[in-house]
Amino acid sequence: MPLLLLLPLLAAAAVASPLAGGAAAPTPIPTPWPDQFHAVVLTNLTESGGRLQLIDLYYDWPGGRNLNLIRGQLSGDPTYDVEWTNGTSFFFDSASCRTKLFPVGLLPPDWLVDGAVYLGRHAVGGFDCHVWTKVDFVWYYEDVVTHRPVRWNFFNGMQQHVMSFEVGGVLKDSKWQAPARCFSDQETVGIAGAATATGRLQGEDAKFDVMSSFLRFVGAPAQAVAAE
Ligand SMILES: *[C@@H]1O[C@H](CO)[C@@H](O)[C@H](O)[C@H]1NC(C)=O
Ligand SMILES: *[C@@H]1O[C@H](CO)[C@@H](O)[C@H](O)[C@H]1NC(C)=O
Repeated sequence: MPLLLLLPLLAAAAVASPLAGGAAAPTPIPTPWPDQFHAVVLTNLTESGGRLQLIDLYYDWPGGRNLNLIRGQLSGDPTYDVEWTNGTSFFFDSASCRTKLFPVGLLPPDWLVDGAVYLGRHAVGGFDCHVWTKVDFVWYYEDVVTHRPVRWNFFNGMQQHVMSFEVGGVLKDSKWQAPARCFSDQETVGIAGAATATGRLQGEDAKFDVMSSFLRFVGAPAQAVAAE
């Protein structure tokens, strides 16, 4: 009986609300990142065969660099992934170093603004978020009130949860320096650019750029994704 009474009311509310609210609200636009920030990110790779990781992320757009300090669960030796805007990335731990050359620079602060598709509001981890997807590759959750990123998910199930987000957080210069072993006579691995590989259409090139920039940005964890 109460339900029967409620149904017409709900239907009336659904019809009435767009009128009552006047013009439809504009589609929310993702907030560009600050030029510099420090975030602590919990990365869940278990769905793609990996483990949990705790990552200190230092994004430094004016400095032309981005750093992921990656600690795997119950693993003592952290991995550094230092990206420079010229395309060079250094992946090193206390014993080894790999250098990679990417065909893309850093992910720009407004990387999500162009071409993202708005998917509406969802609650994640107790936060009310706007959600966008870009090239069906990444799903991005932004807090409706504070505009801070809360989470980004990858197409293959990798999830990154933002545990803290410190605007203007920087890491001192000496910490960005790759160790000497990165500059000894070891090989540099070039990551092939699909743009040059297959002569794709422009739209597809743009799509590749976003995907490779984001893969680069999330660094070592994403390699597990890319290898699938
Ligand atoms: C990690 O992701 C898997 C698959 O989505 C999920 O079942 C699990 O609860 C997640 N773990 C954490 C700590 O978020
Ligand atoms: C890119 O910049 C970094 C940091 O200055 C440097 O170590 C590296 O050699 C540069 N790479 C290229 C290809 O110039």
